[in-house]
Amino acid sequence: MSEPTNSLPGMMPLVELHCHIEGTVSPMLAQRLAVRHGIDLSAVIDPDGNYIWDSFASFLKVYDAMSAAVQTPEDYFDITRAYYRDAAAQGLRYGEMFISPAHAAQHGISYPTLLDAIGEALAQVEAECGVIGRLILTCVRHYGVKQAEQVARLAASHPHPMVVGFGMAGDEAYGTPRDFAGVFQIAKGAGLHLTAHAGELMGPESVRGMVDELDVARIGHGVRVHEDPDLVHELADRGLALELCPSSNVCMNVVASIAEHPIGAYFRSGLNVTISTDDPPFFRTDIGAEYASVAATHGLSPEDMLQISRNAMTAAFCDEDIKKDILRDMDIWERAATCAES
Ligand code: ADE
Ligand code: ZN
Repeated sequence: MSEPTNSLPGMMPLVELHCHIEGTVSPMLAQRLAVRHGIDLSAVIDPDGNYIWDSFASFLKVYDAMSAAVQTPEDYFDITRAYYRDAAAQGLRYGEMFISPAHAAQHGISYPTLLDAIGEALAQVEAECGVIGRLILTCVRHYGVKQAEQVARLAASHPHPMVVGFGMAGDEAYGTPRDFAGVFQIAKGAGLHLTAHAGELMGPESVRGMVDELDVARIGHGVRVHEDPDLVHELADRGLALELCPSSNVCMNVVASIAEHPIGAYFRSGLNVTISTDDPPFFRTDIGAEYASVAATHGLSPEDMLQISRNAMTAAFCDEDIKKDILRDMDIWERAATCAES
């Protein structure tokens, strides 16, 4: 288990909304899985134990190559459990994770089998560590509309209580939001909440397309929306949550440093800001470190950071009962922290 990096007072209860299941696999765990399956990952993990990538395109390639080591339901159980146990040690109370049936299908794992394995891990970590996990079924934009539609149809034909959302990851330069409108309609018809990656590498127009064409409730990233002040007002008025992933943006060369990330300005301007890790070992972060570094570099107080965690819980796609419980725990934590100060 990693050392806690949540340096906020008394392990603040944290929430994250944007994390990719294969992207949680550390190079060390990937090597273990590679040995398990007789795979050579030396092209994507260097001798010091770091993933080898230097651009978004090479990141996606390494991500797919590493995902090839995740081959069985047991592997999915192991990686889910490992991620939530580590994150719980950082203070995570609730986390949503993107799962991509297309990746699992490459190894002949059916969607129901994938859900059984991940669902079992979620039940176990909740019982052991008290952390609650929920899932967002995700299509990959550059795999094309046809495959995205197949993923949405899986959601409709195999409803599962732990799958609460539908999303789209991948290369946002591929196709247009309108191309995927039918796909998102199918997912919405299946009762799922919607989110999509946009404005990670592309500008505010990419975010506007998602909001207007796909009716998403949240945006994955949206890190350049300040370039369009009208869009900022619209997002703030609608309370549409931004799943911001600062370390990811720095490592992808979208922003120069955490200090230059717009998250502090977005928070102060009334945007519905949340914090997540995206693919934590790729960006050498974890959820505790992510909250702590934003607080330290943007002069945000513990009250501000708790507000960001509350924003995430409020924008979560789970049942209201879970939200109520965790928001109440946050209130209790805040009162205890206030008492400790006085
Ligand atoms: N898949 C995994 N991580 C991603 C990211 N940061 N952007 C787009 N697709 C992804
Ligand atoms: Zn992402």
